[in-house]
Amino acid sequence: MGIAYLNGEYLPLEQARISPLDRGFLFADGIYEVIPAYGSVLFRLDEHFERLERSLSEIQLTNPHTRDEWRELFDTLISKNGGGNISVYLQVTRGAPDKRDHAYPTAPQSPTIFAMTSPIAAPAADAPDTAEGLSVITMEDFRWSRCDIKSIALLPNVMMRQHAVQQGCAEAILIRDGFATEGSATNFFIVKDGVVLTPPKSCFILPGITRDLIVELCRDNGVAIEERNVSEAELNHADEIWLSSSTKEVVPVVKIDGKPVSNGKPGPVWKSVARLYVDYKRNLCGES
Ligand code: PDD
Repeated sequence: MGIAYLNGEYLPLEQARISPLDRGFLFADGIYEVIPAYGSVLFRLDEHFERLERSLSEIQLTNPHTRDEWRELFDTLISKNGGGNISVYLQVTRGAPDKRDHAYPTAPQSPTIFAMTSPIAAPAADAPDTAEGLSVITMEDFRWSRCDIKSIALLPNVMMRQHAVQQGCAEAILIRDGFATEGSATNFFIVKDGVVLTPPKSCFILPGITRDLIVELCRDNGVAIEERNVSEAELNHADEIWLSSSTKEVVPVVKIDGKPVSNGKPGPVWKSVARLYVDYKRNLCGES
């Protein structure tokens, strides 16, 4: 099960214990991050720090650590778990005051800080010529309107992913007022007539670190990309669809609501962007 970090201590994950009064448990009053490391090197760490700091500040939770302290904590955890290609899950909640009350506690309260690691499965982008691609469904986005906060309150996302899985699909792409927002745990891109499109950042999507990197890679390498809203009709008639996240990187979608995307195979624009992604990763973290 590996070694976890809980409130200053490294310990076997199965021995980690939190109070039932923890506000994360009672109210989902907390935020999280998922940070990948390749060859034990944390990937786009500054960008993850920026989002972590923003999530904490949006819910008025004081950041318990400096960036250097966080970095040391993550590096120690990675090395205690054998290093390699591994992701760090970090969760910070508003701690466990002695009574349940919706309002934030007024007395000073230590947050609960928990981190663990998981191995990263070989991503599709590592082998663009043999990648098979995923099937997705579309469904109504019934989440709240602060999806920009990386909140641990994920019940809608859990329900949506489960709905996809029960239909034999890997992900649900969510539709709000006729426009696609994102996946239950991924951002999305489409390609139409050679142009890559992805929705702009707003309170209806999580500002994905992988999303931002893909936008950057396209811009730096002459791939036409626009950040603009994508209608449900455009999604359904896209030449290519991709999903992105820190653990999946960038993966092609080959079927949507039971219908093939173009010829039902990963598309050429995805293949070139996947190669750009892998090159970028290797430059930053070495061969892994
Ligand atoms: N999920 N949108 C949502 C709703 C997400 O939960 C995620 C990530 C993303 C992609 O963000 P990033 O590129 O920064 O990973 C978009 C993580 C991986 C998770 O919940 O496990």
